[in-house]
Amino acid sequence: MTGMQMRSQGIGALVFFVIVALNALSIGTHGQEASSATRDDSSAGGASALDFEFFRKNVEPIFLKKRPGHAPCYSCHVLESRAFHLQMLNPDSMEWTDQQSHMNFKSALDQVDPGDVVASRLLRHPLAPEAGGDAFHSGGRQFSSQTDPDWLVIADWVRGAGRTAAPVGASPTVRIYATDSASDTIDVIDPASNQVVQVIRGIVLPHGIAFSPDGSRIYVSNESENILDIVDRKSGEIQARVPLSARPNNIAITKDGDRVLVGIRSQPGFVDVIDTVSQKRTNSIPVDGSVHNVYVTPDGKYAVSGSIENKAASVIDLATQKMIWEIKFDRSVRPMAFETSSDGSTQRIFVQLSGFNGFAVVNFAKRAEVARVKLPDQPGGFGAAEGRKGTPSHGIGVAPDGKSLWVNSTLANAVFKYSLPGLKLIGHTKLPEVHSPGRPPTGAVPEWITFTPDSKFVYISDSGARSVSVIDTTTLKEVATVPVGEVPKRLNTLVVR
Ligand code: HEC
Repeated sequence: MTGMQMRSQGIGALVFFVIVALNALSIGTHGQEASSATRDDSSAGGASALDFEFFRKNVEPIFLKKRPGHAPCYSCHVLESRAFHLQMLNPDSMEWTDQQSHMNFKSALDQVDPGDVVASRLLRHPLAPEAGGDAFHSGGRQFSSQTDPDWLVIADWVRGAGRTAAPVGASPTVRIYATDSASDTIDVIDPASNQVVQVIRGIVLPHGIAFSPDGSRIYVSNESENILDIVDRKSGEIQARVPLSARPNNIAITKDGDRVLVGIRSQPGFVDVIDTVSQKRTNSIPVDGSVHNVYVTPDGKYAVSGSIENKAASVIDLATQKMIWEIKFDRSVRPMAFETSSDGSTQRIFVQLSGFNGFAVVNFAKRAEVARVKLPDQPGGFGAAEGRKGTPSHGIGVAPDGKSLWVNSTLANAVFKYSLPGLKLIGHTKLPEVHSPGRPPTGAVPEWITFTPDSKFVYISDSGARSVSVIDTTTLKEVATVPVGEVPKRLNTLVVR
């Protein structure tokens, strides 16, 4: 056999292998399409949960980039023997062809676990061990920390950036938004897959989040700049920045979407009113004390703000934009949840308080506290190492069907479920623990609660664990833990019909 023959046989075998591999791939893809309710025929759909265009535009250039002190990934990963294998560039080209990019995409996909930044080898292997990376990479510590801008771009891709879900028939679009309070990102979770499908960037210290009723815009209070950012939902681009009277905390939107109410965190205490048409602050309503959270009652008639400093909840008439009554507590007011009566008016407010592992019950018509419910002592054992004993219970929510109340406990590292209206304890679900080398496990420090509109799932932000827990409200089982950004706090559910 001549050398030439051997070579061509080798290529023949290779071509054969590629065809078999492609067939296997297409069978896999078809199987997935047949079993799923929707048909997604975009190049990014089907077999992959991640976006090709985003990869090509933002991730691939990193593999070619000469970063100071490091050889480009390409210089070593062009070798066929690498599991993470990049295609050889054509001699006089600085970029890959479309077909080559698709092959790079496939190889990169083999090194990632979509949605899971921690489990993804593409992010872990070239990351310094001190920063959470693998112990050794022959290509060195390409990224010294998880804040390296290039590493973050790859992480965005792994989390699903650029991926746009195809609209399905008449069913509503539902998304869960998590603001990463110690970062400049907002993670958008698709509850159908429990994966992050979009990351909104550019708002440093995002706090509260609300949506225009048609779902076209997102409103975010920006603690670093004292503004309300108005974001185009689909593109994630900031459209307008509305100056506030001072540093904000949480926000709420009126039922018809004409005004956004922003709690102002400094004394003496105001709720700023932003007109969503003129995109200007039109009023600052004086309330009793600096505001932590502000809510609109489910009937849309009132706003209720809570103050840590003044231990008060102030009720504002939204027609006159004046505070009309208040209720004082012996402790600082934290998050609240609202129960409606059959006529839609507000029946009770459940109020979390500083230093109390439970909640107060306020009868809205009586304008008075009528009960105080303490959470069980067990499970327990968390909160001290995290320095959160002063805020034992943060995050409370009434399910959309009005049948249950969910209450976070930092001390229990769990969420408790109570029946409504009976307020009977039904059970609890433990939240993820944080395991650090050489230390006992610490808690997730739960911060907030939201639901899917069908009340089937509750979402809890695990601020200390960089995740959002998804819990089946019937079985009380955690069905997913979605990795998100740094210190996720407020959550909100978008429903576009
Ligand atoms: C100096 C050569 C070199 C450079 C530069 C390099 N790597 Fe590697 N990389 C290797 C070698 C060799 C392996 C396999 C042995 C090992 O794991 O250390 C590897 C392994 C990997 C793996 C595990 C899969 C595999 O192919 O075995 C990933 C993922 C990876 N590298 C990503 C990267 C990324 C991303 C970059 C650029 C940011 C990069 N590497 C830069 C040499 C390199």
